[in-house]
Amino acid sequence: MQAELGNIWNSEESPSLERKEVSVIDFAGQDAQKSIKPSGLDKLCIEGGHALEGEIPISGAKNAALKIMCASLLTDEPLTLTNMPVTLNDIKTLAHLLKHIGVSVMARHDKTAVLHAHTIKEPVAPYDLVRKMRGSILVLGPLLARHGFAEVSLPGGCAIGARPVDFHIKGLEAMGAQILIEDGYIKAKATGGLKGAVYTFPKVSHTGTENLMMAATLAKGTTVLKNAAREPEVVNLADCLRRMGAQITGDGTDTITIEGVSSLNGATHAIMPDRIETGTWMIASALTGGRLRLLNTNLDYLTALISPLEKAGLTIETEGSDIVVYRTGDCLKGTDIMTDPYPGFPTDLQAQFLTMLTLCKGAGMVTETIFENRFMHVPELCRMGANITIQGNSAIVRGVEKLKGAEVMATDLRASASLVLAALVAEGTTTINRIYHLDRGYEDIVGKLGNCGAKIQRV
Ligand code: UD1
Repeated sequence: MQAELGNIWNSEESPSLERKEVSVIDFAGQDAQKSIKPSGLDKLCIEGGHALEGEIPISGAKNAALKIMCASLLTDEPLTLTNMPVTLNDIKTLAHLLKHIGVSVMARHDKTAVLHAHTIKEPVAPYDLVRKMRGSILVLGPLLARHGFAEVSLPGGCAIGARPVDFHIKGLEAMGAQILIEDGYIKAKATGGLKGAVYTFPKVSHTGTENLMMAATLAKGTTVLKNAAREPEVVNLADCLRRMGAQITGDGTDTITIEGVSSLNGATHAIMPDRIETGTWMIASALTGGRLRLLNTNLDYLTALISPLEKAGLTIETEGSDIVVYRTGDCLKGTDIMTDPYPGFPTDLQAQFLTMLTLCKGAGMVTETIFENRFMHVPELCRMGANITIQGNSAIVRGVEKLKGAEVMATDLRASASLVLAALVAEGTTTINRIYHLDRGYEDIVGKLGNCGAKIQRV
């Protein structure tokens, strides 16, 4: 059993991974970070103009899996996770960090991972890993709750904005933690354990809600999180924590109540389908004019996307857990969107939707309210022939007849996805550089799109 479990994250063999990448994955050794570096030089070449037709299996949600992996730190028993996007680089980076902390991490070809934090050896998240993946901040709450001590590097800003973590810190302080910011690290201790508290988020924070919810599971007494994030990933994490024995109510609303318990147990839990991947391929179908069946996903998580896509001219049908999408008319129509915390329009689909607007009849406006610098894809789309004007936190997109292939560069994960979408429909060939961003969040993009008729290759 043990040997079988180690296949994806520990051995040389993995049919679902490209050979070059597999050969350097080695969580047993020092090489996890190398598994990310080689693809940094890779490019994607996409010949546009081919309608996507076929089926795409939707992976487990990265943004749920990362948080739930951190929940393994809350118990000394094994946590088994199914539907895990085990080949994503963000997942591998977190697996490496957890291993550094003392967790045994194993993944199987059937997308199952087992994480066992029998003992916490090193409650430290070093800069080198945190700077690669901001989600690493999510070890802070669980480590503090179980171990009473944690040192986590401050994540710093990133391509889409400043991204502070002050709510995480203030919330943990409200729960009795003593926190010092020193040498670029958050140094936190909770002698005698965390205590239940009432904390109101000044602004809705997805990751902040998850960090404090995990910390509160082992605190003494009751914690109430107000103005909490309502994202489905928060609910998926709460479901997992409940399976582990946590007492949580109100997840999915803006007030979450957690009754602390003295210990948590191991469990088996399924990662929810990736709503952002689902939305990305729905937009791909609108753009290319093909018909796609997206397998094993859930439209309930994407209510804010349905109406703007239908207004633009996409037909959306559900068949069990599949979503079928195809374009209704010959051309798409421009429409406006504004990002907002869930259940509003997801900031993680803004770049992809904006790309669709570049080819719509008329104009559409995109307003970004979550991050201050999330239009980095716009200059690249303009190089492909798009007509976009940025005014403050809004982009006015005037539809053009066609986009033209060009050499472009991706700056962050969702911006990269938006360039892939543009390339799928542009005239000629587009070369997308720096595709390591895509490897962080989209599994097997070449295989999935290639199977649906896209002319796409990694070079
Ligand atoms: C955000 C998105 C999430 C998405 C993720 C990845 C929202 C509400 N959150 O989550 O859906 O999956 O990006 O792209 O749409 N903030 C602070 N202090 C903090 C924490 C946050 O000021 O301690 C601010 C942020 O700068 C931002 C806002 O609050 O303006 C929301 O941030 P947050 O939800 O925490 O970001 P992520 O968890 O990364």
